[in-house]
Amino acid sequence: MSERRVLTVIGIVSVITILILVLGFFSVNSVITARSGAMTKTAGVLRDSIAILQAEVDSLKSQVPGLGEYMTTFQLHMAKLWFAEKASNWGLAQYEFDELAETVEAAEALHAVKNNVNTAGVLQSVRETQLATLDNDLRKKKSGAFVRAYDQTVETCNSCHRSAGYGFIRITRPLAPPVSNQAWTPGQ
Ligand code: HEC
Repeated sequence: MSERRVLTVIGIVSVITILILVLGFFSVNSVITARSGAMTKTAGVLRDSIAILQAEVDSLKSQVPGLGEYMTTFQLHMAKLWFAEKASNWGLAQYEFDELAETVEAAEALHAVKNNVNTAGVLQSVRETQLATLDNDLRKKKSGAFVRAYDQTVETCNSCHRSAGYGFIRITRPLAPPVSNQAWTPGQ
């Protein structure tokens, strides 16, 4: 082979090699572009899903009762408990007590902090001490002990109101039944 032909062949091989390399680069590049396009799309879908989830969490949160709503429920069960016990309706009295304890537990789960008062901790302590005593005295059907435990519970309600900055909410023994459409006596 003449030197000229050798050079021509080398030239052609080089051009082909360069062509292959250039084509290869573009095809890799286009795969990367396509992939990153797909990833951008996936990220967009994820962002939308997170926004939808956030909206659902916000809506669920707004449906959960706040501490004040639980408190109104405490107040109702406390009042009903008083009239049920006075009427020796032990079934109803125990029922109201249990509902009260359950509501206190639900309120603990809010972990609300008011005026630096950790309400969950105080509520748990009320449930485990004053409410436990109240329950005990109720089961013994001893009215004097019950009334003492009831007054002590009311005092812990008010003492927490004072420390949490709600001293103007003062709970007392109920003077009249909280509702007019329920009988307090046990019936037959
Ligand atoms: C851990 C502290 C704490 C204890 C214990 C506590 N409370 Fe409260 N209570 C609060 C706070 C704080 C508020 C104000 C809540 C709010 O509006 O966010 C409140 C509000 C109330 C309200 C006003 C609700 C309304 O919307 O009018 C009533 C009624 C009430 N409590 C009753 C009780 C009764 C009854 C007990 C006892 C069985 C009790 N609370 C025990 C902290 C407490």
